[in-house]
Amino acid sequence: MSEGILVAQTDDVPDGEAIKIDAAVTGTVDDIAIFNDGGEFFALDDTCSHEEASLSDGWIDDGVIECPLHAGKFCLRNGEVLSMPATENVACHRLIVDGSDIRLVPN
Ligand code: FES
Repeated sequence: MSEGILVAQTDDVPDGEAIKIDAAVTGTVDDIAIFNDGGEFFALDDTCSHEEASLSDGWIDDGVIECPLHAGKFCLRNGEVLSMPATENVACHRLIVDGSDIRLVPN
């Protein structure tokens, strides 16, 4: 059996875009945002650590996601907060890309 939970196909997440996967699917506390940055896929908790905004609605730029509400920034690789007004990291999750399957290994 394959590791992780099948959450999407690579074609579901075009380069420079993101999708949100409901927590009911992933079994995680928060919904999960899957990002495609130049053909690399990343997964973070979808809710910004500052207030209630969906990071999957934000803007991806060179390994960074910018929150759509107040422009806080987070590293796509590890969820580390990079700019105010956010001050706390968001949880990062491991992805396995197996052919066209994207599998999530939740923290
Ligand atoms: Fe994301 Fe404020 S809600 S920076």
